[in-house]
Amino acid sequence: MRTLLVTGGAGFIGSNFVHMTRRRYPGDHIIVLDKLTYAGNRANLAGTDVEFIEGDVCDAALVDKLVARADITVHFAAESHNDNSLRDPRPFVDTNIVGTFTILEAIRRHGNRLHHISTDEVYGDLGLDDPARFTEETPYEPSSPYSATKAGSDHLVRAWVRSFGIRATISNCSNNYGPYQHIEKFIPRQITNILAGQTPKLYGTGEQVRDWIHVDDHNAAVHLILERGRNGETYNIGADNDHVNNKAVIELICELMGAPGYEHVADRPGHDQRYAMDSTKLRTELGWAPEYTDNQTGMRAGLEQTIAWYRDNGQWWAPAKQRVEQAYAERGQ
Ligand code: NAD
Ligand code: DAU
Repeated sequence: MRTLLVTGGAGFIGSNFVHMTRRRYPGDHIIVLDKLTYAGNRANLAGTDVEFIEGDVCDAALVDKLVARADITVHFAAESHNDNSLRDPRPFVDTNIVGTFTILEAIRRHGNRLHHISTDEVYGDLGLDDPARFTEETPYEPSSPYSATKAGSDHLVRAWVRSFGIRATISNCSNNYGPYQHIEKFIPRQITNILAGQTPKLYGTGEQVRDWIHVDDHNAAVHLILERGRNGETYNIGADNDHVNNKAVIELICELMGAPGYEHVADRPGHDQRYAMDSTKLRTELGWAPEYTDNQTGMRAGLEQTIAWYRDNGQWWAPAKQRVEQAYAERGQ
């Protein structure tokens, strides 16, 4: 039986991680530390018996106390939305950089293990016609305040491994989708637009490519890394969906939901063009493979499940819908 400290466990990926951990490792004790920002929701953890602590990963005294009790800290907490980082970068610097520093110092004092959750965006972007994929050796070249702060946090983890000998692993994953994702993000925004009788919104031409992965496939990889990942290593996570552009995703959502169409809106400034992950290391070393796959878009089954979840959980997303859409409308999006 392990004690896991899950930071950001009331957010999208963190809460799905908690649910998966409960299913697969019922004996584990789970402590969730979450600030409950606009992106965190206590209801995401309904039905789980976690020890829930509302607090900030930048609070050194609190973090020290919790890290001391945990065999492993799984660090999901972050400000996570690119569009918000363009409007107000400060919380991204605080949570993503100072928060990770705070966790690292506690890990250094107590000598227990850290797994740091990061993103493919640290590698920058690829040209639309570039067939390359990001490997663990690709140099960092982040584009937005969000990805720059995530890159900074990865560098801190690596420096603490090398300079102080802490025990840590890092995973960099591509774009997730699935239940409990905040409706500011691309896929749930379009699903809830259709459910609310509004028109789906595509930024610019919609040619951009994201290497979509279902959140359960991401979290299954994280569990494998916790069990068998080598100390100090980085693992890229991606489901080989780097041939699917935003236009194809929105068209598939419209088809699955019987919606007549979508509209083009203002593009994101500095919009990254293409992400593509090479997850060979994870697959060969740890034996990981995604379960949500199909030949065409790799997303049909996962999207059907996700659409059904939003359809069944209107009370979860409806209260935030008007505020989110108003903020987008102010930016022509
Ligand atoms: P999210 O925005 O849905 O959730 C973030 C959670 O962190 C929320 O519950 C929020 O309340 C909490 N939080 C924010 N600031 C905090 C603070 N200072 N102290 C404590 N808790 C705080 O994000 P997500 O999409 O679930 O992403 C989780 C992690 O995965 C992030 O580190 C993100 O960079 C990474 N990631 C996300 C994706 C994706 O597609 N969403 C892909 C790869 C990596
Ligand atoms: O690549 C991993 C990253 O994926 C994570 O690190 C981030 O936390 C996560 O938010 C996500 O970042 P993106 O910026 O790629 O995700 P987002 O859902 O905001 O947008 C996905 C794509 O869809 C992007 O090309 C912009 C576009 N888009 C987005 C919205 C919200 C639209 O076309 N219309 C929209 O309404």
